[in-house]
Amino acid sequence: MRIKRREFLKGAAALGAGMSVGLPHIWLKNEGLARAAGGEIKVGVLFSLTGTTAIIEESLNKATILAIEEINAAGGINGMKIVPIVEDPASDPATFAEKARKLVLGDKCVSVFGSYTSASRKAVLPVFEKRNNLYWYPTLYEGRECSKNVIYTGAVPNQQQDEFIPWLINNFGTRFYLIGSNYIYPKEENNYCKKLLQKYGAEVVNEEYVPLGHSEFSSVINKFRSTKPNVIFSTVVGDSVVALHRQYRAAGLDPEKMPMASLTTSENEIAAMGGDAAAGHFTSAPYFMVHKSPENEKFVAAYKARWGQDKVTHFVSEPSYFQVYLFKQAVEKLAPSDITPPTIREAVKGEEMIAPQGRVRIERENLHTWLWPKIARAKPNGQFEVLVESSEWIKPVPYAAYPNQVCTESGLKQT
Ligand code: ACM
Repeated sequence: MRIKRREFLKGAAALGAGMSVGLPHIWLKNEGLARAAGGEIKVGVLFSLTGTTAIIEESLNKATILAIEEINAAGGINGMKIVPIVEDPASDPATFAEKARKLVLGDKCVSVFGSYTSASRKAVLPVFEKRNNLYWYPTLYEGRECSKNVIYTGAVPNQQQDEFIPWLINNFGTRFYLIGSNYIYPKEENNYCKKLLQKYGAEVVNEEYVPLGHSEFSSVINKFRSTKPNVIFSTVVGDSVVALHRQYRAAGLDPEKMPMASLTTSENEIAAMGGDAAAGHFTSAPYFMVHKSPENEKFVAAYKARWGQDKVTHFVSEPSYFQVYLFKQAVEKLAPSDITPPTIREAVKGEEMIAPQGRVRIERENLHTWLWPKIARAKPNGQFEVLVESSEWIKPVPYAAYPNQVCTESGLKQT
């Protein structure tokens, strides 16, 4: 029988599913058996230990390793140990993609925990989507993503800004200066911010982006002086957070009159800049180290015991920690022969746990997380004072800035 070329290609694609370039990976039943062979479950840990975002990512690595060690010490997952394979992507998106390929294809990890910046998440996304693997992303981000291959445990804009923006307007005034690092996250986050500012009758006096790793803010500070905003809304990330705060303080500006309101300044950056430089400025996030709960006391004590009494926990290290426990809960539901990224994804949908910040849940529709927004002011001792706490957990709406789009289990839908 003569096989026509088109039909042959179709057959070849079915045989080689997942191996040929450009085809989605199809996980076979019992493939999981090989993954869980020898009573071990291999996972990747992909946070930068060097480069401009190591200041924060190194602590995400530590929180992830802590959770893995705790789970293993308590007997593992159904008796199987989690084996972390740690890579350093050096704050460089191309290196993130290269290391992600190594973890997924070479090491055959069933999940990878990783990334701070959205630039690095975007860089690894094709690796996970093409191989139908699973990336666990703990960082607050801009939303506007609807992947079946990412579990998102950090806040999206509606969970950080819906309370924060009207609160800032009520307390300080309507003139906002938007300053961010120059990449997708600050731009999309500001897109949502501008919609809220418009809704509440507030205005943008300037919108400015500085390169990642930027450390010379004198001209920016001159513009703060000349434009006289009521609020400086900051989505600057990494080492630049430290430089911006120190130079603001050195310039003699007053947080009582012109505070910085940030979605990215945590106890971690404050530890690096010194409490005095941060004091009086505001952050909105679902978790602060001072949060009072038995789960948080346990987390903070364990983190300090493992990594040093001087170390802090914060709103990205907390999801880095609890998402490993959500991974455990999902894998626990599976037979060893059935532990594959797609089965883990199905098992984690709707999964809940009591995290240090409170009860969290993976939203079945969009694989983002229900969280507990808070507004806090930094104190000179490097900790925050929480001023406003949401009385209920808040649903993640990753397309909040795009109300005619909604992320569902079957993909992005136009409404
Ligand atoms: C970020 O880039 N999602 C902070």
